Amino acid sequence: MTKDFLMVRDFTNPEIHETFEIALEMKKDRKKYATALQGETLAMIFEKPSLRTRTTFDVGIQQLGGYSLYLSPAEINLGKRESVYDVAKNLERMVQGIMIRTFGHDIVENMSKYASIPIINGLTDYSHPCQAMADFLTIKEYKGSFKGLKLTYMGDGNNVAHSLMDAGARLGVDVTIGCPRGYEPNLMAYQQAVEDAKETGAKIVVEHDPAKAVANADAVYTDVWASMGQESETEIRKAIFMPYQVNEDLMSKAKSDAIFMHCLPAHRGWEVTDGVIDAPNSVVFPQAENRLHAQKAIMYQLMKRD
Ligand code: CP
Ligand code: NVA
Repeated sequence: MTKDFLMVRDFTNPEIHETFEIALEMKKDRKKYATALQGETLAMIFEKPSLRTRTTFDVGIQQLGGYSLYLSPAEINLGKRESVYDVAKNLERMVQGIMIRTFGHDIVENMSKYASIPIINGLTDYSHPCQAMADFLTIKEYKGSFKGLKLTYMGDGNNVAHSLMDAGARLGVDVTIGCPRGYEPNLMAYQQAVEDAKETGAKIVVEHDPAKAVANADAVYTDVWASMGQESETEIRKAIFMPYQVNEDLMSKAKSDAIFMHCLPAHRGWEVTDGVIDAPNSVVFPQAENRLHAQKAIMYQLMKRD
């Protein structure tokens, strides 16, 4: 087992499936793992805002018998008040794991290199692996198995898109990214997914035509058009991304039993209409809940003592 969880591909394929099994067990019986991480502390470093990530890690570690420590941007001021190296060297002596949400992916990579304790990526500009684990756990629950499925992600080729490709490639789920020209996923993230997909047979596709992208999809997913840190581009992006909005018309082009997914927060009326996000086949809130169960299983895998 890897020390850290920075990308879904840090886990082997069997470890990903095992993590899902543990997550489902934890979901079924909240009390069963109540002492699994007794007395262990998770430091949570946030350099960006959060509702779900903060709440689910905080509640999750407590349900496993441990403690959490919230470190806000103002407190740590990572890389400015103190170097990533010095923060890592301090925290490894005080806590048993670190969850970090930050900007550059190199920051979590450096943290993982310098600290002897597990580092969990709670979102960088490059990836959001805990989100993808919760997303595929949700797909497993709603679709029964991953076999032969197609997930279409509509919008910006961002951190969430990268982690969906990463997870889909590992689990054998076809992933199509429907995006405007110039907003494709990062080339390295795409190439790594294509490489990983050779083992499972998953097809990883980038498609600029929205209707073609969603055709035959079992799950249609979207995210904000301007991610945290890109707020100044919001208006420019709105015009570019509007043809990729997930509305009732676009959903009707996917499979008739397709589910709708969103990592949240959602900008209703922008990347998704009320009619789609509030429809009976929308699984956005079960998906948000699964952050708790998936991350409890990830923490357990990385922080348990043998
Ligand atoms: N989906 C997600 O990570 O939500 P938060 O930004 O609220 O943590
Ligand atoms: N792509 C979004 C995801 C938020 C959970 C962002 O980075 O802001």
